[in-house]
Amino acid sequence: MIEARGLTKRYGDLVAVNDVSFEVGSGEVVGFLGPNGAGKTTTMRILTGFVPATDGTAKIAGHDIFEDPLAARRAIGYLPETPPLYPEMDVAHYLTYVARLKDVPRGRRKGAVDRAMERCGLADVRRRVIGSLSKGYRQRVGLAQAIVHDPAVLILDEPTVGLDPIQIREIRGLIAGLADSQEGGTGHTVILSTHILAEVEAICRRVMLINAGRKVLDGPLAELTRDGQRLEDVFTRVTLSDQAEASAGGTAEAAEAAQ
Ligand SMILES: Nc1ncnc2c1ncn2[C@@H]1O[C@H](COP(=O)(O)OP(=O)(O)O)[C@@H](O)[C@H]1O
Ligand SMILES: [Mg+2]
Repeated sequence: MIEARGLTKRYGDLVAVNDVSFEVGSGEVVGFLGPNGAGKTTTMRILTGFVPATDGTAKIAGHDIFEDPLAARRAIGYLPETPPLYPEMDVAHYLTYVARLKDVPRGRRKGAVDRAMERCGLADVRRRVIGSLSKGYRQRVGLAQAIVHDPAVLILDEPTVGLDPIQIREIRGLIAGLADSQEGGTGHTVILSTHILAEVEAICRRVMLINAGRKVLDGPLAELTRDGQRLEDVFTRVTLSDQAEASAGGTAEAAEAAQ
């Protein structure tokens, strides 16, 4: 469903994403982990077509993000770090507006909006102005705008950042529900970035760890934590040994990127 090949993004001398390749199958839920500055957001922005890669390419549901960007973007729902909400609009109007932007045909828009609101627990606040909602509810609206066109792939950038523990639990529950198969079909394919390990353990079955722009680990959560290993320890070990390598034997560029 997602196929990334050699994705690289340079900002001047900084290599924000360095030759990252991976595949994500239909219905998989992948936790994209890494310390701050590791390159998670940049990778997601490349996949969603918001920034061009310096090198490499990716396919979303078979559509190349450079050769066929419109089809690729149509297959994606994206919750960025700061969702593009309009505080003065009410929930239902905002989602209808997003549905129109995402080319949901006019005749299907109301149904699509109702369904997104229902799935994100927004039915009771449909006429509320977004700016008057709590942060947890605004994040639900953020999720709803990502799924309103029923995309195959969901890309969620730190979806619980800044929420309180109860809101975090609610949002995690919603995401887990979106990933579950519905009505006999497969659920959404999800990539979710976070630096909170508990989040991955709560929602994801596969972990991809990125550090200083490079993918350093990729595998089933169960495998990484077998023999009672804690994900936290795996994370720390891999991140630290990667940094030591970069500053000892690596190029100046790698050492810089590791900081
Ligand atoms: N627009 C930009 N211009 C220059 N550097 C950037 C830009 N966006 C991100 N970076 C740098 O790229 C690196 C990766 O950032 P980011 O992808 O946001 O990491 P993460 O989301 O994992 O915290 C960081 O060092 C960051 O400062
Ligand atoms: Mg980020």
